[in-house]
Amino acid sequence: MEERQHHKEGFLLCLILYVLFQGSPPQIGSSDAYTINCTGFDLYGVDPAAFQSVFDRKAFRPVINYSIPTLVNISFTLSAILDVDAQIQLLTSFLWVNMFWDNPFISWNPEECGGLKKISVTAKNLWLPDIFIVEFMDVDQTPPNLSAFVQSTGRIRYDKPMKVTSICNLDIFYFPFDQQNCTLTFSSFLYTVDKLLLGMGKEVWEIADNSRDIIRTQGEWELLGITKATPQLAVGSSLYDQIMFYVAIQRRPRLYVINLLVPSGFLIAIDALSFFLPIESGNRAPFKMTLLLGYTVFLLMMNDLLPPSGTPLISVYFALCLSLMVVSLLEAIFLTYLLNLVTTQPPPMPHWLHSLLLCYLRITDCYRKSQKETRGTGPNPIHLPGLMEPVVMAAWVPGSSEAGLNGDPRSTRAPLEEQAQGQPMVNLWGTFCLILDSLLFWVYLLFMSSSLITVIVLWSS
Ligand SMILES: *[C@@H]1O[C@H](CO)[C@@H](O)[C@H](O)[C@H]1NC(C)=O
Ligand SMILES: *[C@@H]1O[C@H](CO)[C@@H](O)[C@H](O)[C@H]1NC(C)=O
Ligand SMILES: *[C@@H]1O[C@H](CO)[C@@H](O)[C@H](O)[C@H]1NC(C)=O
Ligand SMILES: *[C@@H]1O[C@H](CO)[C@@H](O)[C@H](O)[C@H]1NC(C)=O
Repeated sequence: MEERQHHKEGFLLCLILYVLFQGSPPQIGSSDAYTINCTGFDLYGVDPAAFQSVFDRKAFRPVINYSIPTLVNISFTLSAILDVDAQIQLLTSFLWVNMFWDNPFISWNPEECGGLKKISVTAKNLWLPDIFIVEFMDVDQTPPNLSAFVQSTGRIRYDKPMKVTSICNLDIFYFPFDQQNCTLTFSSFLYTVDKLLLGMGKEVWEIADNSRDIIRTQGEWELLGITKATPQLAVGSSLYDQIMFYVAIQRRPRLYVINLLVPSGFLIAIDALSFFLPIESGNRAPFKMTLLLGYTVFLLMMNDLLPPSGTPLISVYFALCLSLMVVSLLEAIFLTYLLNLVTTQPPPMPHWLHSLLLCYLRITDCYRKSQKETRGTGPNPIHLPGLMEPVVMAAWVPGSSEAGLNGDPRSTRAPLEEQAQGQPMVNLWGTFCLILDSLLFWVYLLFMSSSLITVIVLWSS
């Protein structure tokens, strides 16, 4: 009876052992069965037969349990920013992409083969993850016959250079002081999250630092930084893993400042200064005409430097400069016409204008007198013409003094000569013209400075 009990227990033990043994062989086997015998690799080179079983499996995702997703770690180095095309919204860059994953069918013991830890294998003999860049808008020109490094632990490192022409939402409003933020999304074509997961091969700041070190070119674009996000992409019921890298780049504006903004600024400054040319001499309108012509030629020549599409702020700025020049030319023409009209056949002055002018003259006259008193006996330029009747003086002097106060050095000689003939009406009209000119000059300056400040503030924001 007791022996039977013993028998039973022994049988149970055997059964348990058997079951345990049955359960464990695949696990022991999974490390043993796929171990590559690397004896002699250090003496006779790698034996292709040893890797044949791995090569034969390249059509399939290298996993032992198909419920386990393959983890592919990705990193890249941005080695050049080749082109940014605002018209077709494309960024062309050059990447060195690194991918790491584990192949459980590869492993060997480095001690058996003289410490051989990694060997390179032609990549077409291995399973490669189908990682692509979502924004890629070109055929992949990756050179064929690249190799991958295989480590003794089964970790595979595959590097490939890629010229990436990616679509990017480019905003050129702030040209040439613009920054762009382009996205490079790495994702798998085929494998959903339960088949393939993406990880980072390097920290993102490392990627950014390496890229900044590598991009030595002093091209138009400068790398500001790289950040990442890892939202998963849902297409229907399937979920794909993806990593988005945001590449922030900035244009180096020096070329455009020197070739576009500085010359344009000079021309508009000269246009403003040309208000100091005496309107009576008739030089002003031709001068402004020449300036306008020069500006048009400048715009034509520099058109190539501007972005071919969109409306950047700089175009608005140029249009503004051009319209300021046109307006100041029109002003010069109008005043020349007015001055000519009032000196040849002065029309009757409206009563309100007459009293307004007289009032203005009286005020400026008082001001001038008080200035003279405080200044003492300084030489007064107003007295230079000298030989004039008091009436003439009363009519003309304030006008020229007003011009003088505005820092307007325009000559008053020609009207003064007419004054000598004693025509108070003409004098008043002449004064009116000069006042109008000064007034319009100030309006012009005000408009110019306010619009320039607006543009500059927009640019610097
Ligand atoms: C590896 O192969 C060599 C001959 O190529 C053989 O002598 C050796 O026993 C093998 N090692 C193992 C662990 O199978
Ligand atoms: C395969 O992996 C899944 C998930 O990890 C696990 O539930 C299952 O038992 C594994 N199958 C085998 C045969 O190991
Ligand atoms: C991928 O990265 C993770 C986290 O850094 C690491 O644990 C894992 O071993 C890496 N895998 C490969 C295949 O490089
Ligand atoms: C780029 O855009 C993304 C998303 O729109 C944003 O998360 C990221 O901070 C931006 N990067 C820079 C440098 O502006």
